[in-house]
Amino acid sequence: MAGEATLILDGQEYRFPIREGTEGERAIDIQDLRARTGHITLDPGYGNTGSCESAITFIDGEQGILRYRGIPIEQFEQAPNFVEVAWLLIFGHLPSAEEYRIFSERLTAYANLDESMKHHFEGFPRSAPPMAILSAMINALSCFHPDFFELEDRDHFQAAAAGLISKIRTIAAYAYRHSVGRPYIYPHPGQRYVPNFLHMMFSQPYAEYVCDPIVKDALNLILILHADHEQNCSTSTVRMVGSSQANLFASCAAGVCALWGPLHGGANVAVLEMLDRIHRGHISPEDYVRLAKDKDSKVRLMGFGHRVYKNFDPRARMLANVAEKLLPTLGVRDPLLDIARRLEEIALEDPYFVDRKLYPNVDFYSGIILRAIGIPTNMFTVMFAIGRLPGWIAHWWEQAQTQGNRIARPRQIYVGPGVTDHVPREARV
Ligand code: CMC
Repeated sequence: MAGEATLILDGQEYRFPIREGTEGERAIDIQDLRARTGHITLDPGYGNTGSCESAITFIDGEQGILRYRGIPIEQFEQAPNFVEVAWLLIFGHLPSAEEYRIFSERLTAYANLDESMKHHFEGFPRSAPPMAILSAMINALSCFHPDFFELEDRDHFQAAAAGLISKIRTIAAYAYRHSVGRPYIYPHPGQRYVPNFLHMMFSQPYAEYVCDPIVKDALNLILILHADHEQNCSTSTVRMVGSSQANLFASCAAGVCALWGPLHGGANVAVLEMLDRIHRGHISPEDYVRLAKDKDSKVRLMGFGHRVYKNFDPRARMLANVAEKLLPTLGVRDPLLDIARRLEEIALEDPYFVDRKLYPNVDFYSGIILRAIGIPTNMFTVMFAIGRLPGWIAHWWEQAQTQGNRIARPRQIYVGPGVTDHVPREARV
């Protein structure tokens, strides 16, 4: 315990313990508040509510710090390896050579989908949103892998985690192939995680996609930068669903749905649409920023602002650097990058954004990089989901391992009508 907080209610004093995290974050522990005082707390959007203790990711939004299991995110920039980071997040330490070998072998072994799952893709219209397909197909994995419902020990869980991390990329690639009417390309047992995904996305039966090492590194880094972000909307959803002891696939399928929204992972698509609108001359960058400041317009500067970061999002800074280097190396000249830079310049000098501490977030530059790699816009949020999956799995497992874990069940303040008599239909006016 790191001290006490005193609450005075109706003249009576109550003391509550203060908990302190590794980095000095402090919380008033109110677990028995209602039992002792008859009151609950009200915190729409949970901006002040800690839902759990977690040892996975640390963020200091004021300083622009993000660490995975204590390691600053910037340290993954050299030789980025998404599989290693996935292991780190889920199991708490960087994998040994042996752990890495076994996990990689499992990723290869589980990459394929049950052949009959292919019929599910056929059932979706070509124009189906890939996030809808992704969520549905992850949920469908529950039907094909009931052996992963009850996870008996750490090794069994590791197999389930490897299965899901491997299969999400196959599902994502198949969703894309279906949308463009191309034959599915099976995973290649000799390819690493990222090149294998790009192979399934872009190879043709008569022409193999060859992955440029620069593209491999850029995509590894993008996935790493999306891999966890503590109690964000989708991760909280995964924990919420998992708290009912729903299985890993069902919980992560729910996470995909939460991620889909434009205020969360869907923002990367919205950013591209915004940049494209400006590029097509529908509106100037200056007018767009003006519109984003006008509360009546309902328009926001997409890819800007964050609930936690009140300083630069370190992920945005790193992605801006990747974009600067990758595009010229690939010989891509993308006018949307210039527009993004211009928007950033205008916003960072505007008191509206400065006063509210609104900075570019992870979604501001990621789309420009994905586009340069050849990923279509409607797959951007799917890429975010592939990246975020290890985080979801890590949180699901951490929660499942927590002693005394209770089902997540917030309360509410009811503001509807008081007791009202039912009126038979014929008597209603
Ligand atoms: N453009 C214009 N105004 C903004 C923006 C923006 N992008 N973001 C916040 N504001 C204003 C907002 O109108 C409010 O103003 P006021 O105090 O005058 O009412 C103030 O800033 C605080 O905003 P909020 O909505 O209370 O902040 P929040 O913490 O609830 O929302 C957010 C955070 C990320 C949803 C929000 O900043 C936003 O909508 N950004 C655009 C969408 C986006 O880029 N989302 C991706 C987030 S990062 C990746 C992820 O989590 O998936």
